[in-house]
Amino acid sequence: MGLKINSVIGDFLTIDDLDLNGKRVFLRADINSSIDPKTGKILNANRIEEATVTIRELKNSVVVVGSHQGRVGKYDYVSLEEHTQYIAEYVGRKTTFVMDVMGKAALDAIRSAEPGDVLVLDNLRFAAEENFEFTLEDAAKTVMVKRLSKVIDACVLDAFPSAHRAHPSIIGFADLVPTVAGRLVVKELKSLTKVMMTSKAPFATVLGGSKISDRLEAMSALINGGKGDKILLTGLIGLVFLRAAGVIERPIGLSDEEKLVNQAKRLLSEYRANIELPEDVAISVDDERKEIPVSEIDDPSKVLDIGTKTINRYVKVIKSAGTVFMSGTPGAFEYKGFERGTHELLYALANSLGTTIVSGGHLTTALEGLKIKDWLDHISTSGGALVMFLAGKSMPMFEALKRSAKTWKGRLERN
Ligand code: 3PG
Repeated sequence: MGLKINSVIGDFLTIDDLDLNGKRVFLRADINSSIDPKTGKILNANRIEEATVTIRELKNSVVVVGSHQGRVGKYDYVSLEEHTQYIAEYVGRKTTFVMDVMGKAALDAIRSAEPGDVLVLDNLRFAAEENFEFTLEDAAKTVMVKRLSKVIDACVLDAFPSAHRAHPSIIGFADLVPTVAGRLVVKELKSLTKVMMTSKAPFATVLGGSKISDRLEAMSALINGGKGDKILLTGLIGLVFLRAAGVIERPIGLSDEEKLVNQAKRLLSEYRANIELPEDVAISVDDERKEIPVSEIDDPSKVLDIGTKTINRYVKVIKSAGTVFMSGTPGAFEYKGFERGTHELLYALANSLGTTIVSGGHLTTALEGLKIKDWLDHISTSGGALVMFLAGKSMPMFEALKRSAKTWKGRLERN
């Protein structure tokens, strides 16, 4: 293949280590974006803009962009056609949307593209395999990876927000083609490592948002790893714990709810002293904010924010923490009147003298317009992946990068 290796940084190779000029490069990005449930249109293009840093640098390669978008059956499970328009705008090169993932249309488009061209494959989760987790060996045997690896020379992994997923497009290419880290991954890792080096106890973590299972999984690791002195629960995960504590009786209406509630019960029985639950919430009555104690929640679907007493208590914890990590929004900040919890806690982080990290696509959207970004130490569009990373969990994407560096370093140096 004639790829030339330049140097090795840490355990990974990066795009600086390979001569990718004239090569066909699969770029696993994460441009999974917030989608308007009514229109199906992209609400915030931050992640797309971030992904284009690496695309812009690979200006002499055929760049084949692959990403997932949403989850099967959800309103945000849409095609990447609109994402392609954003990429074209940010990159300023010929950018073509391919309405296919691994069929003849995709393979032909990759084979006939010229260096400098950018191709964007359709939502990788339209292919069934991308919705499952695999071992690295089995991921390499998936139809998607087998087919795509025949038409590419190298793989660049830049999907930091999906680093915790063992999906074929993330781990499957490592043994088949040289697989290296993109600019976003290196930037996030460097900045997070620096931030964590100066961080000190006590550690407070504010958890919210809608992706509950990742956060539940990370909680015990955070606490056992000394990074969860106080875990302040908000949003849907707060409601799950209120159900687990017997405060809310009616189901919230989540898929797998009983499993999540049982996990929350186990965490409460083991780590009650570390976990802070909301004492009041804001519900929507005739589209107006009304605050009630958690004991009065009769319909959890009406809860759109944490209440003032909870906000004040959480602000105190944040102020006295040495390090604060916030992932996921406390409330439905996009609705007028229900932005208060999200904004107040973000302001508390900005005013904190400790180390502060804000993570997740929705929280970064909520930050827009607050004019406090300069007062935060690290802001990342990654959500669940960052929680797992800080909790010290093994990250399949980094394992794949390390393995590929080991596999290819010797082979490429011999060429
Ligand atoms: C995210 O938004 O956290 C990543 O894109 C991963 O998405 P997922 O949780 O649907 O795998």
